Parts: sequence; structure tokens; C-alpha cells
Amino acid sequence: MYTGDLGHYERCGEQFGSFVKMAADLSGAGAPRILELPCGYGRVTRHLVRQFAPGQIDAADIMSPCIEFVRATFGVRAIQIVDPVNEFANIQDGAYDVAAMGSLITHLSEPNTRTVVEHFLRKLSPNGVAVITTHGQRSRDDLHARNWFEVSDLDRTTLLDAYAHRGHGFVNYSPAHTFEKKTVEEVGDAYGVSLTHKDWMTALIEELGYSLAKYTEGGWDNHQDVYFIRK
Ligand SMILES: C[S@@+](CC[C@H](N)C(=O)[O-])C[C@H]1O[C@@H](n2cnc3c(N)ncnc32)[C@H](O)[C@@H]1O
Repeated sequence: MYTGDLGHYERCGEQFGSFVKMAADLSGAGAPRILELPCGYGRVTRHLVRQFAPGQIDAADIMSPCIEFVRATFGVRAIQIVDPVNEFANIQDGAYDVAAMGSLITHLSEPNTRTVVEHFLRKLSPNGVAVITTHGQRSRDDLHARNWFEVSDLDRTTLLDAYAHRGHGFVNYSPAHTFEKKTVEEVGDAYGVSLTHKDWMTALIEELGYSLAKYTEGGWDNHQDVYFIRK
């Protein structure tokens, strides 16, 4: 998403594009089929179409203006997520050599994260590799140092405590927040801010029958953990 700094927007998109390339290499697919979910207004998609043919890329999001924008601008297949929104039933299971999820479960509660990860990983082909990002330890440390998530002071404490004791925490943005205002208006209260401990995430991946191929703490935009996941 765009936060007013074009250089930062470009760097984040380009960096995530390099993760998709890494996942494609790990999958071994010559011309990988790629799912990007969520795509937003194409911060990452614009870099994907420089590395892969648009016909290889399916981009999905819950917001229809995003879908219309990426379809018209980048020529990719764009899929609008329908109810139940965390199950992605209108996206083919077993079809993608790379399934890329940048900054979605960073905004979801524990049960919603479980549902999303479970259904998202089903989209992978047998040798496919998923890339999923979370707010992990570095985000926790940033939040501890300063309230950069735009949550209330009470919710900030709740988030830090839940992360420390349960490995996962979720709160809503404060009513006065500006950062993700439009998305919250569209998606509703299910969309807030989460912290996810590496142990919690790794346990979920294993419980679902997958394994961690590679992991980088704070590897995206110097604050989001990056998980490369395969069967
Ligand atoms: C923080 S943005 C990330 C977008 C993109 N990955 C990026 O890095 O620029 C989160 C996106 O998730 C979308 N979203 C929220 N809930 C969703 C859901 N259940 N299914 C698909 N997209 C969802 C929002 O519309 C928004 O575009």
C-alpha cells in the first residue's frame, strides 16, 4: 500500500517481487503459475509483470477497485474474493507454483489467520512454494519502542502481552487512525493489526502438514517476517 513515500513504495514492491522469484526458483517450475493475494493496487504486481508474463499471474483482493485497477493496468487475471472471504473458494486449489501473500495476516485475528493460511496453502501445486509475511519480533520491538501501529495505548499493551504469552495478538486500529482507514471502511472490524510469533506460525504450518523452506526475521521492509512454505 502507498503511504506517501514513492521511493519506499517502490522498494517494498521490488523486494517482495524478489521473494516471488526466490519462491519460483525453489518450486523448480520453468514458467510458474503465480497467485498474488492480496494485490491491493499493485505495489508488488507492477514488479511481477517485469519478471513474468502477465498470463502467468492471478492477482486477488477483496476490494473491487483494486481488482479493476490491476486488471486494466497490468493485464493480469484479477479475481475478486467473495464470501466467505477468508476461504478463497473461487480460486482453484492445487494450481499455483507460487502463492504470495504480502501483508494480509498482519491484519487478522488468530482464528481468521488460521482459516486464511489453511485455505491459502491449498492453492499450491504439489511442488509449489508459498511466501507469507507476518508482523513478528522486529515489529513487536518497533511497537514496544513507539506506537507506530496507530492503536490505542491499552490495545498496544494488549497486543504486546498476547504476543508474549500466546504467540499471537490482534487489536483494531484506534478510531482516529489514518494509516489503513479506507481498507477498514471496506473490510470492517475484522481488519486490524496483529503480531505473530515465529513459534506460533511454525506450529500452524506444521499442523497443516507443510514445512518451512526458508525464513527471514524482519526480512520485508525491515519489519515483516518472511516465510517460504512448501508441502
Ligand atoms: C496491507 S494491504 C497489502 C496489499 C499488497 N499485498 C501490498 O503489499 O501492497 C492489505 C490488502 O488486503 C486486502 N484484504 C483484506 N482482507 C482480505 C481478504 N479476506 N481476502 C483478500 N484480500 C483481503 C485489502 O483489500 C488490502 O488491499
